[in-house]
Amino acid sequence: MTIQAIAFDAYGTLFDVYSISQLAEKFFPGHGVELAQLWRSKQIEYTQLRTMCSMYKPFWEVTQDALVFVCKKMGLNLSLDAQNSLMGQYARLDAFSENLAVLKSLRASGYKLSILSNGTTPMLQSAVDAAGMQGIFSHLMSVEAVRKYKTAPEAYQLGPDVFGVPARNILFVSSNGWDVCCATWFGYTTFWVNRAGAPLEELGVTPHGTGTTLADVLEFVEKYRH
Ligand code: LAC
Repeated sequence: MTIQAIAFDAYGTLFDVYSISQLAEKFFPGHGVELAQLWRSKQIEYTQLRTMCSMYKPFWEVTQDALVFVCKKMGLNLSLDAQNSLMGQYARLDAFSENLAVLKSLRASGYKLSILSNGTTPMLQSAVDAAGMQGIFSHLMSVEAVRKYKTAPEAYQLGPDVFGVPARNILFVSSNGWDVCCATWFGYTTFWVNRAGAPLEELGVTPHGTGTTLADVLEFVEKYRH
């Protein structure tokens, strides 16, 4: 099977959503790590609820709503300054250290690279620019085009529509177990960057490849070539 293009999930895969715990720790000493974790899960939960109920709202706003809720739940007083700083940091999250070299190498091998993400286009552009990844991706595919979040089939359909090839000819790469499983159901060839050493979701579906960093994608695509 030929891989003609690669679509990367953004948050958690290219950009480290938990890196925000350092800034959170400055505002809320002793709570940074927990805040980052709860913020991320609430953000994903809100995307799923909104998609199930057809109540789309852009990812930037959903992310902010999740931050406000989690601070309330944790009993933390979120000042406007803290909120603006944390959201500002979200727009330029740290990229995982190996990513840029891996992406450059995949491009040099001739693959068309893209992002397929819940993030809005401005969020994705800002994160790409902050990570020095300008010129790497041919497409930044945002689910805002279909107003449904992953794991809706309409969101995953963006890849085949944009590249004009079947999903099985696109390698979808995500570090989020739920995302990679649902993309496999959709029909993509998939690679799970299991950075956290998490167990596979009990969904009865297995990604085509698994590794621990983005660098493991290089070996996987080489194997698929032969
Ligand atoms: C994204 C989230 C799901 O980038 O990580 O789509």
